[in-house]
Amino acid sequence: MSITVAQGERVFSLHTNNTTYQFRADAYGILQHLYYGPLVTNTNFTYLWQPRERGFSGNPADAGTNRRISFDTMPLEFPCHGCGDYREPCLEVRNSDGSNSVDLRYVGYEITDGKPKLPGLPAVFADSDQAQTLQITLEDSITHIRAIVQYSALPSSDVITRSVRIENAGTSSVTLERVLSCCLDFMQPDSRDIISFYGRYAGERTMERTPLHHGQSRIESTRGASSLHFNPALILCDRTTTETSGSAYALLFVYSGSFIAQAGVDQIDQTRIVMGIHPQDFAWELQPGDFFQAPEVILTYSATGFETLTHNLHRLINQHLIRGKYASQRRPIPLNSWEAAYFEYDDEKLLSIAKGAVDLGAELFVLDDGWFGSRNDDTSSLGDWHVNTDKIRCGLPVFCEKINALGLKFGIWIEPEMISRNSDLYRLHPDWMLAIPGRAPISSRWQFVLDMSRQDVVEYLFDTFSSLLSSCNIEYVKWDMNRNIGDIWSQQLPDKRQGEVLHRYMLGVYDLLQRLTSKFPDVLLETCSGGGGRFDAGMLYYSPQIWCSDNTDPIDRVTIQYGTSFLYPFSCIIAHVSASPNHQTGRTVSMEARGAVAMTGSFGYSLDPSRLSTQEKEQIGKQIVDYKENWELYSHGTLYRLLPNPANRSEAAWMLVSPDRCKASLTYLLKSPIANSPVKYLKLRGLDPEKVYFVKPGNLILSGAALMHAGLPIPELRGDYPVVQFILTRHLNPGE
Ligand code: DGJ
Repeated sequence: MSITVAQGERVFSLHTNNTTYQFRADAYGILQHLYYGPLVTNTNFTYLWQPRERGFSGNPADAGTNRRISFDTMPLEFPCHGCGDYREPCLEVRNSDGSNSVDLRYVGYEITDGKPKLPGLPAVFADSDQAQTLQITLEDSITHIRAIVQYSALPSSDVITRSVRIENAGTSSVTLERVLSCCLDFMQPDSRDIISFYGRYAGERTMERTPLHHGQSRIESTRGASSLHFNPALILCDRTTTETSGSAYALLFVYSGSFIAQAGVDQIDQTRIVMGIHPQDFAWELQPGDFFQAPEVILTYSATGFETLTHNLHRLINQHLIRGKYASQRRPIPLNSWEAAYFEYDDEKLLSIAKGAVDLGAELFVLDDGWFGSRNDDTSSLGDWHVNTDKIRCGLPVFCEKINALGLKFGIWIEPEMISRNSDLYRLHPDWMLAIPGRAPISSRWQFVLDMSRQDVVEYLFDTFSSLLSSCNIEYVKWDMNRNIGDIWSQQLPDKRQGEVLHRYMLGVYDLLQRLTSKFPDVLLETCSGGGGRFDAGMLYYSPQIWCSDNTDPIDRVTIQYGTSFLYPFSCIIAHVSASPNHQTGRTVSMEARGAVAMTGSFGYSLDPSRLSTQEKEQIGKQIVDYKENWELYSHGTLYRLLPNPANRSEAAWMLVSPDRCKASLTYLLKSPIANSPVKYLKLRGLDPEKVYFVKPGNLILSGAALMHAGLPIPELRGDYPVVQFILTRHLNPGE
């Protein structure tokens, strides 16, 4: 049993293989957090709670004369605004009388095997023998607003998931002004750091570590998408935590819209972290009998540094979030047309690129932006999802057949959520665009946003893309989103419910994704948002891979992929080899380095084969052979980051190790070689100390113990951005 209840004491413990999470309903029915950390069984952590009277921290009426009981100082599981807790709340309401109090107390609990789905939302999935779920019901005795606080424990993943459902069991409507999914309170006044992943277009998920201080540290997106600018994830760790030692907690939001993640240290040095849908632009009217389901947060803890934290998240995402056959199957190696031709093509040019792709050994041709309506640049046609016969003169089915005849699978780019003013769709349905009456909407890349909160819009898109995917043998779809949301106003909602638009937008997107992926389960879906602008766990529930960044420069990519790797496995990080000089930075980098960086990811190409030198073509041929042979290791191997953040150093190194530790890859890249430099020794990790490995290049035969404790000398590297990629295979002596 991963969830236990000490009956008389109403103490709830969730155990995973290596962690314990505990809370209780106290004598007042307040849901009080007690412990989250390394596995501790048979312990009631109530003793940790040392209530003291604190000035200016008020006491609930039912605490009588006990001035030590205050919501303001107690570690809580689901803090609410308006009941004396002045810290960040999870729940804020506006009652029908205009007041904002909500005081939730314990009513009961239910434990079930497995993990229920969350209505309309992506969520971690698990069978009944892989997880247990605990639901705690809390209720306000005046308004009868209820919170069903939901916890699932997945023991073998060392993960606990949290979410909440708010129900109106009263007789008056109430407006939810903030519903966050998770709160983690820490009583112990330890000094801690937080790690977040900030970014910008072409520079996503840069890891940043900062000390927590009294007051608030917040990351957020108010853009209607999880964003390029902050990833919806936070790591809390000790000041001394490293890759391999120390305490670290991760929170990962399974949601793709606006979010907030905030960590604060209070007056008595307690730390609170909250995470959920961003309260800005959010208000949800809950009529009697209605409920609101908040998205899920994934929690994991490591007592042995970031490495274990990463392994926990990677395992969970690969095994309990990504669905469909491509969760475990090798994905075809694509050549994408974007950096090969941008908007400048016709069918002849595309076919010659595709022929070049075949010669290189690619397996899939992805036709990117520009194939539909009358689109020749980014100013028109979003919404007109029929082929542009001026460019693809033979029509899409015949073009697809021609691609297939070359021996390639065919994939196509779409941007379902968007509309151009210059489109037939806009001329027919101007009301389908998000716009505020009387105001000119904000344009971004000349495009506007469809009102995905409308059922008729989602229905139309489902029919449109169902017909497109049925029209020919499309085996791959790239779903893009090239702007953030503004003008949040839907013609279909009454004025006082406009606060629901942003979340309803996400529910519309998820509904469309769910219906299309169910109808076309064998189509491999890549999601994208101007690069990695919606790289989140919500999207991974529908698409096994996400375009990591529009920046394909391998030297920048090393930093982007390093940050991304803390949270997300390489299996879902799409990384392509592109042209040199690179189109984003103008940097010239060898084919070897471009291949080495893209290879440890979901691998492919974005370039025009006709512009490659003979030597580059030969190198690509070898890369493809290498990838086919080692893809399982490169995309599903256990990751070891051997050197710190490459953003701040001149070198990068990472390893991937097979589950049986018989095979490993090691990549070392030097950004700026130094003349007459000392020898670099890399101490490897994750190997079996008892096993002997054959190391190539170099043809060394060394034990795992030697490689991990004494290290591997890196050969002298010269030139611009040199790289060396090792493969280690278990060496068996004759007779072994
Ligand atoms: C942004 C994507 O990230 C690119 O790869 C490309 O698909 C363009 N959009 C097309 O408009």
